[in-house]
Amino acid sequence: MDGLSPLPPSLTEAEILGVHHWTDRLFSFTCTREPSLRFDSGQFLMLGLRVGGKPLLRAYSIASAAWEEQLEFFSIKMPDGPLTSRLQSIRPGERIILGRKPTGTLLAGNLLPGRRLYLLSTGTGLAPFLSLVKDPAVLERFETVVVTHGCRHEGDFAYRDWLSRGILEDEFLGEFTQGRLRYLPHATRDDTRVRGRITDLIRDGGLAAHLGLPDLSPAEDRVMICGSEAMLADLKAMLEMRGFTEGSNAVPGHYVVEKAFAER
Ligand code: A2P
Repeated sequence: MDGLSPLPPSLTEAEILGVHHWTDRLFSFTCTREPSLRFDSGQFLMLGLRVGGKPLLRAYSIASAAWEEQLEFFSIKMPDGPLTSRLQSIRPGERIILGRKPTGTLLAGNLLPGRRLYLLSTGTGLAPFLSLVKDPAVLERFETVVVTHGCRHEGDFAYRDWLSRGILEDEFLGEFTQGRLRYLPHATRDDTRVRGRITDLIRDGGLAAHLGLPDLSPAEDRVMICGSEAMLADLKAMLEMRGFTEGSNAVPGHYVVEKAFAER
């Protein structure tokens, strides 16, 4: 007995296997996955630590694909965040708490069939898309899959090497990603190749021009959005203006949204 009170049946524990610090504000980690945990790529789980003896949990998108043996998560570090100020110093061998019930709306099944899939993210909103682009069942539904990652600075482009090269060269995934997956990182406060907010890049045609693809239209394009509340609201308004309708777990549509994890 370690003297800790037992967890409620809705929660379980997992062991940290690896931790990667991208910047002083961003890190990711992998942990064990119970064989009984079933989820769809793009979903999130409650995740946290015991604080003062009690579970302190936040919703975290799963960054690993449904077929992978380990779970992966991508997180911000907030010095004053009740959870992330502690979670950021987690090490392999230590344990975290996980919910048992995955949920979320960023599911390929919540979208009507389409030609191209746009996965638009800012910050840690990239996490669910890391899961989706590793899922052949998702990739195969579309001719082209575009991942955009908007960050303040170039140094914030976590997973850049993997998305620009690794996933295309991967022995298993290459067959599904080559010629289909496009990755477009864009910073707002550094002079990167593509610069500006995603909203501006869509409005001024920069996104279409950089990709060499037509402007976003509900006739052929499907969109998933994950970022800050303001980014979600702005993009939703832009898409609705273009005739896109929002999908849900009940009724599929042209686009779906989810708020990225952020701790204040
Ligand atoms: P900006 O630098 O112009 O604020 P954050 O680090 O604050 O979560 O922001 C991540 C990225 O999202 C930044 O590049 C930021 O641009 C951008 N962003 C913030 N608000 C919006 C919005 N309403 N629409 C689109 N992008 C946004």
